[in-house]
Amino acid sequence: MNQSAFKDSGELHVAIIMDGNGRWATARGLPRTAGHAQGAVAVRQIVEAAPALGIRTLSLYAFSSDNWRRPTAEVRALLHLFARHLRSEAPTLAAHDVRLSVIGARHRLPPSLVAAIAGAERRTAGGRALDLRIAIDYSARDAIVRAAARLAPGEAGRVAFTRRLAEAYGADGAPDVDLVVRTGGERRLSDFLLWECAYAELYFTPRAWPDFDAGDLAAAVADFRGRTRRFGGIAAGSPN
Ligand code: FPP
Repeated sequence: MNQSAFKDSGELHVAIIMDGNGRWATARGLPRTAGHAQGAVAVRQIVEAAPALGIRTLSLYAFSSDNWRRPTAEVRALLHLFARHLRSEAPTLAAHDVRLSVIGARHRLPPSLVAAIAGAERRTAGGRALDLRIAIDYSARDAIVRAAARLAPGEAGRVAFTRRLAEAYGADGAPDVDLVVRTGGERRLSDFLLWECAYAELYFTPRAWPDFDAGDLAAAVADFRGRTRRFGGIAAGSPN
């Protein structure tokens, strides 16, 4: 098996931690929620650009389970923004052959958002060009704990666990993450797709999410393609 090869064609799974909205807004004398609204505009541009860069699966971290700790007004504004965009973007996504799904827990979300998620998922179910996964009320550690609890007696192994994990956060299976991009200057994973990122390449940029554009995504993917992935082995052609 050629484990040292990196993917140089399509089929990449890129996960993005969209950070820096608040600081982007504060630096402009705007409320933090204005940064989130501008962040939603950036999402649109990145989704449009992804397929041509060879990205087949795009996972976006929109709201972590720890984000409930934010001020109520900010949480409300975020959840409202998600619902509004899911409703307004679903037809465009469907037209561009994008399948949208939301990963995370749904039981704490307002019914209007749950309905918007279900509607967008239904409407885009046939999309084949891009698997767009939006993480809302998502925690990798919670998902791992739930997946472990779902393992049937005697069920073991990574394949079975990966399947249980996908079930645990409402996904229907995606490949491991190839590349994690985090904007906003911090360098951490913040409980995002921890199992799936076991061998992901990490790319950190100081750019705030609302400023992150198609050129920035292309630069991140180009950086990824310049790396050699070894998965614990040695690079092809290395001396013995
Ligand atoms: C982190 O920045 C960003 C969030 C918690 C929200 C992300 C949401 C969006 C980008 C909107 C997405 C919209 C759709 C439709 C999916 P921060 O607020 O932590 O920024 P800071 O670190 O500068 O305070």
